[in-house]
Amino acid sequence: MNLILLGPPGTGKGTQARLIADRLGALHVATGDLFRNAVKQGSELGARAKEYMDRGELVPDDVTIDMLFDRIDQPDAQSGVIFDGFPRTLQQAEALDKALAGKGKAVDAALHITVPDDEIVRRLSGRWLCPDCGAIYQEQTQPPIKAQLCDDCGNELQQRDDDRPAVVRARLEKQRPPTEMLDYYRGQNRLVDIDGAQAPDDVTRDLLAEIERATTRISN
Ligand code: AP5
Repeated sequence: MNLILLGPPGTGKGTQARLIADRLGALHVATGDLFRNAVKQGSELGARAKEYMDRGELVPDDVTIDMLFDRIDQPDAQSGVIFDGFPRTLQQAEALDKALAGKGKAVDAALHITVPDDEIVRRLSGRWLCPDCGAIYQEQTQPPIKAQLCDDCGNELQQRDDDRPAVVRARLEKQRPPTEMLDYYRGQNRLVDIDGAQAPDDVTRDLLAEIERATTRISN
């Protein structure tokens, strides 16, 4: 299956994409992670993306689309992808449909996670990540067993540069899924709204139920 997780920053897309990809045996592809890796490697793409990420803005479509397509052309992406943070514009959505159609595939469901803004700000101010395995923690609600250390690999946890309150506010202002993109998926009966303000397990349960529904619809 090819599924996309949509939603403003901090709604739990990364948390849920990791779980669902594991459950379905699909590849988790997060454009934010691809950009952060490019920044870490000191590449030209990373330097260009960083300017936008530091301001809480979207990286331009042409750069983002090329980078994503390079990733999904690789062999490990051929049996299904959970797209996390892509698409974010109508142009990206249309480009993805075209690319998948060229491979005889399609987006099976667009899962749109929503959470009130004050809860998003609270979550992001306490988010910690493992720089090695990508595990995601939240200091109040999902803390690691040992303070500052990853439960899975023992590495020291880090905070993201763009989780500073001023950048979070900019991201919330500039990075909500645009109505025209939501309407695009809604018009094709592929959009499903998910209440992301519930406990993580309940969000996973609702996502898996909707994925099951999409699978049944496709096979009929
Ligand atoms: P990206 O990394 O995609 O950031 P984002 O969309 O802002 O999303 P986040 O990673 O902040 O949040 P999330 O929804 O994954 O939430 P998480 O699971 O971590 O993008 C970074 C930047 O790259 C962008 O700003 C942009 O510049 C650029 N970019 C990326 N994609 C692009 C694109 N397609 N086009 C152009 N530019 C692009 O959860 C957040 C916190 O909440 C965690 O601490 C977690 O533990 C906690 N949490 C999760 N679920 C729950 C729950 N149910 N209850 C309580 N706490 C929870």
